[in-house]
Amino acid sequence: MAARTFPDGFLWGAATSAPQIEGGHREGGRGESIWDRFCEDPVRIADGSDARVACDHFHRWREDLDLLRWLGVGAYRFSIAWPRIMPGGRGAINPAGLDYYDALVDALLEAGIRPFVTLYHWDLPQALEDEGGWAARATAEAFVEYADAVSARLGDRVAHWTTHNEPWCIAILGHEQGEQAPGRRDPAEALRVGHHVLLSHGWATGVLRRNSPGAEVGIVTIVAPVWPATENGADRDAARRLDGSLNRWYLDPVFHGRYPEDAIEDRVRRGHLQGRDLPFVRPGDLEAIAAPIDFLGVNYYSRAVVRADAAGEPVAVPPQGDRTDMGWEVFPQGLHSMLLRVAREYRPAKIYVTENGAAYSDTADAEGRIADGRRIEYLRGHLAASLDAIAADVPLAGYFVWSLLDNFEWAHGYSKRFGLFEVDFATQRRRPRDSAHWYRQVVAAGAVDDPTQQPLSRRIP
Ligand code: FCB
Repeated sequence: MAARTFPDGFLWGAATSAPQIEGGHREGGRGESIWDRFCEDPVRIADGSDARVACDHFHRWREDLDLLRWLGVGAYRFSIAWPRIMPGGRGAINPAGLDYYDALVDALLEAGIRPFVTLYHWDLPQALEDEGGWAARATAEAFVEYADAVSARLGDRVAHWTTHNEPWCIAILGHEQGEQAPGRRDPAEALRVGHHVLLSHGWATGVLRRNSPGAEVGIVTIVAPVWPATENGADRDAARRLDGSLNRWYLDPVFHGRYPEDAIEDRVRRGHLQGRDLPFVRPGDLEAIAAPIDFLGVNYYSRAVVRADAAGEPVAVPPQGDRTDMGWEVFPQGLHSMLLRVAREYRPAKIYVTENGAAYSDTADAEGRIADGRRIEYLRGHLAASLDAIAADVPLAGYFVWSLLDNFEWAHGYSKRFGLFEVDFATQRRRPRDSAHWYRQVVAAGAVDDPTQQPLSRRIP
C-alpha cells in the first residue's frame, strides 16, 4: 500500500475538553458550571448521566499524559475550565485552578508535546448564567478577565491559544434548540449570544497577544458543507439558508467584519430580528471581532443534506452513506471541500483541523483487542482529504483526532464513544483501540496509507 507523506512540521495531535473528561467537579476550588446544572435535570442527558467524574482526568492526568506520549503526538488540544479559574465567573481567581493547568502545561512541554489551549469549551460558570449568561454583554467582559488571568500565568509557555470552541453550538444548540446547556429555546436570544461570544473572542485576542507574545491566537468553528437534497430551487435555497446560519454567520464576522446579508434577511423573515439592523451590535464591535488572527481551527465531522419544508426552511434528510454511531454520514470529501472553501474565501494564515473523529462502540474481544476498523477507515479517509487540500495549497498546519479518550458526549452522556482509547467508566481503565495503534504509526511516519491512491478531488461525486 502506498503511503502519502505530510509536510515537515505538520502538527499531529489529539483533542479533549475539560467538561468532557476532567470530573473533579467540586474539587480544587472549582465553581459550578452551566453543564453541572444542566445535568441535574434528568431528561436532558440521554443516559441520565452527568460529568461529575467523567474520565476522572482531574486526578489521572499524568496517566493520560503517558497515553499522549505513547501516541507520539506533537500537540495536545485541551480546554481550561473557566469555573476552576474563576469560580464566580469574574473577580476572585482560584490559585489552585491555575496551579492545576500550570502543572499540566509544564509536564506536556517536558514530554515535547505542545499545549494547544482552548479557553472556552462550553462550561460557563453558573454564576454568570445567573446574571444573564452569554445573552448579557457583561459576560463578554468577564471572558476577557478570565482570558487575562489564564494567559498572564501560562502565556510564557503556551504558544497556541484558541478563544472559543464552535460558537454555533454555544449559540444555537444552547439557546435556540435547547439541546445543550443552558437549554434555552429563544432564537432571538441565540443571535445575541452568538454576537457576544464573537465579541469576547475579538476582545480577548489583544489580551492574549499582550500576555503571550509570539503565540498563535485563533478561534475554532464547526464547518460542514450543506448539500441540497435535490437540484430544485427550494432545496437549493434551503441549503443556502443553513450554510448561512451554520458556517457564514460566524466566519464572515471573524474574517470580513460583517454578518452575511442574506442570512440576516432569513432571520428577519423568520421574525428573529425586527429589521436588518442588529440591535446587539454596537459601534466598533465588528472591527473588534475581525481582529487579525493567526489561524482558524476547523472541527469537521460530516456534511448536512437538506430539503426545504413548506416555508422554505431547511430540514435534514437522512444520510445515504455509512454512518457513525452519532448518525453522522462518513463523508471525507466534505472536509476537503470545506478546507478549500475556507482557504479561498477567508484566507486564514493557517488552518488546523482541531477536531475530526468518529463514534463507534466496538468492544474488546476475548484477547482484549478492540478492532475498530471503521474508525481507522474514517480517520484514514479524512487524512487523505487533508493531504489533497494541502496539495491544493490550503495552509493546513495540523490535525487533531477527536478524541484521545471516550468521554462525556454532552447530551448523549457516555453512550457515544469517540476515543482512540476505550474508557471503562466503572474502573477508569484505559485501553488502546486498534485505531490508537494505527494513529501512532501514522504520527511516527508522518504519512498515511491510502489504499485508493486516488486524489480525493477526483472522487467527489
Ligand atoms: C464537537 C465538540 C466536541 C465533541 C464533538 C463530537 O462539536 O466540540 O466537544 O463533542 O463534537
